[in-house]
Amino acid sequence: MPRKLFVTTALPYANAAFHIGHIMEYIQADIWVRAQRMQGHEVHFMGADDAHGAPIMIAAEKAGKTPQQFVGEIAAGRKQYLDGFHISHDHWHSTDSAENVELSQGIYRALKAAGFIATRTIEQFFDPVKGMFLPDRYIKGECPKCGAKDQYGDSCEVCSSVYTPTDLKNPYSVLSGATPEMRSSEHFFFKLSDPRCVEFLREWTNTDRLQEQVANKANEWLGEPKEGEDGLGDWDISRDAPYFGIPIPDAPGKYFYVWLDAPVGYLAALKNYFDSGKAAANGSSQSFDEFMADADCEQHHFIGKDIIYFHTLFWPAMLKFSGRKTPDQIHVHGFLTVSGEKMSKSRGTGLSPLKYLDLGMNPEWLRYYIAAKLNGRVEDVDFNPEDFVARVNSDLVGKYVNIASRASGFLVKQFGGELNSFNLGDGEQEWSPMTFHALAARESIVAAINGLDTGRALRELMAVADFINQRYDAAKPWELAKKPEAREQLHAVCSDAVRAFAVLTWLLAPVLPATATKVAGWLGLPQPLKLSDLDGETPALPTQVKPYEHLLQRVDPKMLDALFEPPAEARPIPGGEEIAAEIKIDDFARVDLRIARIVKAEAVAGSDKLLRLTLDLGEGRTRNVFSGIKSAYANPSDLEGKLTVVVANLAPRKMKFGISEGMVLAASEKDEEKNPGIFLLEPHSGASPGMRVR
Ligand code: 2FM
Ligand code: ZN
Repeated sequence: MPRKLFVTTALPYANAAFHIGHIMEYIQADIWVRAQRMQGHEVHFMGADDAHGAPIMIAAEKAGKTPQQFVGEIAAGRKQYLDGFHISHDHWHSTDSAENVELSQGIYRALKAAGFIATRTIEQFFDPVKGMFLPDRYIKGECPKCGAKDQYGDSCEVCSSVYTPTDLKNPYSVLSGATPEMRSSEHFFFKLSDPRCVEFLREWTNTDRLQEQVANKANEWLGEPKEGEDGLGDWDISRDAPYFGIPIPDAPGKYFYVWLDAPVGYLAALKNYFDSGKAAANGSSQSFDEFMADADCEQHHFIGKDIIYFHTLFWPAMLKFSGRKTPDQIHVHGFLTVSGEKMSKSRGTGLSPLKYLDLGMNPEWLRYYIAAKLNGRVEDVDFNPEDFVARVNSDLVGKYVNIASRASGFLVKQFGGELNSFNLGDGEQEWSPMTFHALAARESIVAAINGLDTGRALRELMAVADFINQRYDAAKPWELAKKPEAREQLHAVCSDAVRAFAVLTWLLAPVLPATATKVAGWLGLPQPLKLSDLDGETPALPTQVKPYEHLLQRVDPKMLDALFEPPAEARPIPGGEEIAAEIKIDDFARVDLRIARIVKAEAVAGSDKLLRLTLDLGEGRTRNVFSGIKSAYANPSDLEGKLTVVVANLAPRKMKFGISEGMVLAASEKDEEKNPGIFLLEPHSGASPGMRVR
């Protein structure tokens, strides 16, 4: 019976390009998906951008774009990665979509009707300048323990103490520099603490839906609270306007917290795919609603270990108590480290997926390498450049591809490309030991891929390749080729090797789809490759071979050097300050420089460095800017009436003496002690306040 599979990868935030961690997850899921398709199952593989939330709203504002424009541009950059690494999602959508509004609000309404929504008034920091409540990460201040300045609202990077934003001394908003105020607001909560919910989750998390390590984690969270600890807390699912998100029904000014609508985005993607007719084109005869209600439909989510909580507690509970089916399997992977170094979630690692492709590196090398390292457990995977070169060159090319290049030559030259005849009868086994061996290994290899232990699958596969190469070497075809009486034996050995190679290709196809397609063309195999082609008495093995063409190159280790070469760095100038790292024109364009008139310039009491400048940028109001130029202007009022250049879109900074709303440009030596002098920039005459400098 073919299975019906709804498969997803975690939805990436639409505020940055993919990093290698995303690509690893997509490769893992894609290998599994391709293997399921090859087993004849009906697969619907969904991806989407996670578009909502405060960070994206703020990033869009900074970039001078609407959030929709901003996430649209990120979305447009996805394809080059997905195609580049042969990732075969059937559909890619967005959480900022009509389907997601409908589904998220529908789920919310159902939860509310079932008594799972509560409201409560909470106190939170509010930025009076921005007019918005501040997420914890946008509040900084002095550490309550050690007094270190500019620490985040949750913990101190200097002394490592942990606290809440309200503990900070002299807190300020990262967005405006303003001192935040405590304000109260009504929030909506999903009652995870409801006994029905706790009972359900205890049962749900203790099944084979979860890997052992994941179930253990979930059980820790669900366990009886220890003394002094809270049990499963209710989940705050609302945020106040302004927020880029989905409005909460019947609650003006309230939006769903991004993590509420993000997983619903899985369903939204599937709905858009069904409603647009793509599912039908992909073999489904059902509607979205029929498919989702179908007891035979399996829901599989591939995710990283950092978002287990959301996917094993919130998400199943949301689905369950809104009357929907819950996920059948959550497949959790660890992180990708590069040469042992941890990756930052926002910056990724030093391994740029786009640079990998730009250098002309074969995506299937990376797919193979990642597959070889993954084992289906929640362990981190290390990308090590030497190991990468060794595995690709010695195993993939040296063992697998090598079989094809060696054996096909004799067949083409001496037998017109015809393979000898083959059947699976017992007596023939001694004539086709390699093919039999490969076919015998198939079940275990497929089982390993199905269980996401691709590491084991590839080890077993390479052991078969070793066996084939050894048998081939032992038969010494190059000597047989010299003896006319050994012609039949030569034909048998080479035919067997090529057939066995074809079997390996079937098994490698989920990992190396492009190479497998090439091989299928070369050997005239039925396409698309199905695993059932290998079943029965007459597997669809090749009968002919064309002259060998290159299937897969070796990695040139120099490519790895280029891959990890740091980007163009600062360039020294003899005797002067080095030129900063190269930027693109777009980087420059983000800096908005304007002409400003200095309306007032005065010393700042208590500061021997700063002048307070009142600037007119032609905005209909003046700005207050502190500038460290006092030493150069003994009579500040000399500056009044002059024009200068200001960074107009610099985030306002709270300084000891007030908020500074920009920065004036001045020239100076790096080492001011050695060569004092600060020179304010002044435009040629004719410029006027507000003009942009470009
Ligand atoms: O952690 C993240 O990157 C989230 N954007 C993942 C969301 S997965 C799903 F719930 F949408
Ligand atoms: Zn501290």
